[in-house]
Amino acid sequence: MALNPDTAARMFGLDGRVAIVTGASSGLGATVAETLASFGARVAVVARRKDRLEELSERIGGVAVACDLSDLDEVATVVPAVAELLGPPEILVNGAGSMFTEERAEDEPLDAIRRTMDLNLIAPFRLAQDVFPHMCVVGRGTIINISSISGRVGVPGIPQASYAASKLGLSGLTSELAVQWARHSIRVNTVAPGFFRSEITGPLYESERATEYLRRNTPLPKEGTPDDIVGAVVWLAGDSGSYVTGQTIVVDGGWTAR
Ligand SMILES: NC(=O)c1ccc[n+]([C@@H]2O[C@H](COP(=O)([O-])OP(=O)(O)OC[C@H]3O[C@@H](n4cnc5c(N)ncnc54)[C@H](OP(=O)(O)O)[C@@H]3O)[C@@H](O)[C@H]2O)c1
Repeated sequence: MALNPDTAARMFGLDGRVAIVTGASSGLGATVAETLASFGARVAVVARRKDRLEELSERIGGVAVACDLSDLDEVATVVPAVAELLGPPEILVNGAGSMFTEERAEDEPLDAIRRTMDLNLIAPFRLAQDVFPHMCVVGRGTIINISSISGRVGVPGIPQASYAASKLGLSGLTSELAVQWARHSIRVNTVAPGFFRSEITGPLYESERATEYLRRNTPLPKEGTPDDIVGAVVWLAGDSGSYVTGQTIVVDGGWTAR
């Protein structure tokens, strides 16, 4: 059947599906949560700042689950809480992420390397493990990890070795989970954004020199925003992406195409 506006609404619709979005207290995660809700999903928003989560969840008709995802004991509470409040999750967006050091690779402290892995790679893996049985019961599921172009290419002048390793790790995890869980109709993909303004990149964009460097190295003339990235997440979350699994979709204005 050809795609027309009616079938498109069905393919992109997320009516009543329970979604978990981590990193939803700001930046890309907040935009993803709002967008999934506007497509009909019931969204549990997860991060540390409870006040922001409550404001957002009230606005989008979801629930707030405050959690420090660097603490694996706290991570273990997220999916049971969501299942009790909203029902079995069918969509998981692992959006929370951070950088813990700006040192060059040779000087990165071990503690920062470990903290980076805990938040950016181990927490998403644990959450995927925790949603797995629920998705098996529902009979389908989609997991979307947010990585970064620095998991694909080195970024001259902005040292981020452990961050890059954690983000490339998400792509490896993605293809392996996709293959292992395909028989349960659970799809696993990664979206790798280029640069956009947010709390994490705030200091970078304060520098005119750095902003000019980003502009010069991004082929598309406009500056990227969360709105430019969220389309890929919506596509992968719903039936529109039903035959896509194990992929890393790069959304970077052409940065890695050069
Ligand atoms: N901005 C970019 O240019 C860019 C480029 C490539 C990839 N990314 C990735 O995109 C994702 C979203 O980043 P963003 O740019 O939107 O940055 P952001 O505004 O800094 O958002 C990061 C989110 O992660 C949450 N978070 C951080 N540490 C956490 C912890 N220990 N426990 C729970 N939540 C935690 C933060 O919430 P709380 O502080 O409330 O906990 C916040 O909601 C990240 O994975 C980032 O690596 C960003």
